[in-house]
Amino acid sequence: MKICRAKDYNDMSRKAANLISAQIIMKPDCVLGLATGSTPVGTYRQLVEWYNKGDLDFSEVLTVNLDEYKGLTRENPQSYYYFMNENLFGKVNINKNRTFLPDGTEPDSGKACENYNEILRAVGDVDLQLLGLGHNGHIGFNEPGESFSTETHCIDLSEQTIKANARFFETMEEVPRQAYTMGIKTIMSARRILIIVSGEDKAEIVKKAFFGPITPQVPASILQLHRNVTLVADEAALSKC
Ligand code: GLP
Repeated sequence: MKICRAKDYNDMSRKAANLISAQIIMKPDCVLGLATGSTPVGTYRQLVEWYNKGDLDFSEVLTVNLDEYKGLTRENPQSYYYFMNENLFGKVNINKNRTFLPDGTEPDSGKACENYNEILRAVGDVDLQLLGLGHNGHIGFNEPGESFSTETHCIDLSEQTIKANARFFETMEEVPRQAYTMGIKTIMSARRILIIVSGEDKAEIVKKAFFGPITPQVPASILQLHRNVTLVADEAALSKC
């Protein structure tokens, strides 16, 4: 695992955006695996800035997102579909027909997951998978205790994750309890993984995930076994390592 130290959140975002840009420049029709959450917002902002300067072209890029809340419509500002449009897709020249997320509006979990698995199979290998890190070590929405060999599935979110996500919703009742997520097996099949982490509140989990034992209790720890992982983290997140 390569560890790239960043000074702070902005520096982390710029370093991560640099790696994504390099991927797009080297292979304009690359497949990017994308993430949501607050961590990648700065990375997307930087990519948009470089796009506006004429340095980046997304016209041939294809994207697959990690996850989506079950039950939220695309118009719901908390849906990941909405997030991706707000932060990236609506601001660059990407072809929307080449952007994919699990369908949160499909009530039949089996069907939603099978449909997304079919898309992922048709798309082929992800060239670069961007990941954030949950406070309990989750990646995508793969929560602690799950098998490392899953594909897309419906997950009951942990209490900790529901609480962490509550800040984005007006009431606790609105916070989704379930989500569709790409599985660890699929994440691990990406050619290259870029995981970004910022803030002191993630320092403990960074230490556990990347310097502790590999265990399903800390889903991100499996990344230690991937042959091409770059961790871009700021000093606060690396402060306990
Ligand atoms: C959510 C997302 C994850 C993300 C995590 C961390 O659970 N499904 O993909 O990595 O939150 O979020 P944040 O970056 O806001 O800390």
